[in-house]
Amino acid sequence: MERRKFIGSLTGPVLTACAVCMGACSKGSSSPSSGNTATVTPPAGVNFTIDLRSSLLSVGSSVVQSGVIVVRLAASDDPGSFTAVQVSCTHEGTSINFNQAGNNFVCPNHGSTFTTNGAVTNGPAASALKKFTVTVSGNILTVTG
Ligand code: FES
Repeated sequence: MERRKFIGSLTGPVLTACAVCMGACSKGSSSPSSGNTATVTPPAGVNFTIDLRSSLLSVGSSVVQSGVIVVRLAASDDPGSFTAVQVSCTHEGTSINFNQAGNNFVCPNHGSTFTTNGAVTNGPAASALKKFTVTVSGNILTVTG
């Protein structure tokens, strides 16, 4: 079959599939290069509670809610025993994990690390995680920010 006839015989769905593939394969679609390659917007207007009688019972445990990861860092129920930061990595938005052994946050995508206050300690992430305010009243922990 001649090339012109072959291309002319292609139908809409085949052309659409080719276009989607070419877009997905385009340069820089998910490059793990240095610096921020995507805009990651931290959550705003956050306001939720956690019952400490049923959640965050052990040091190192965490809860993810409303785009925020809340971690118990110490045994007491003082607000300073907890931290709450945005769960989306500032590099490309992958959900970070708390690493109890290192007492830090680690992004499993490209390896960025953050302190428990959200500061970057290793890139490629270039921006700190947004930190949220934690208060405790009785058994109820409140996260705002
Ligand atoms: S998404 Fe790239 S380091 Fe987190």
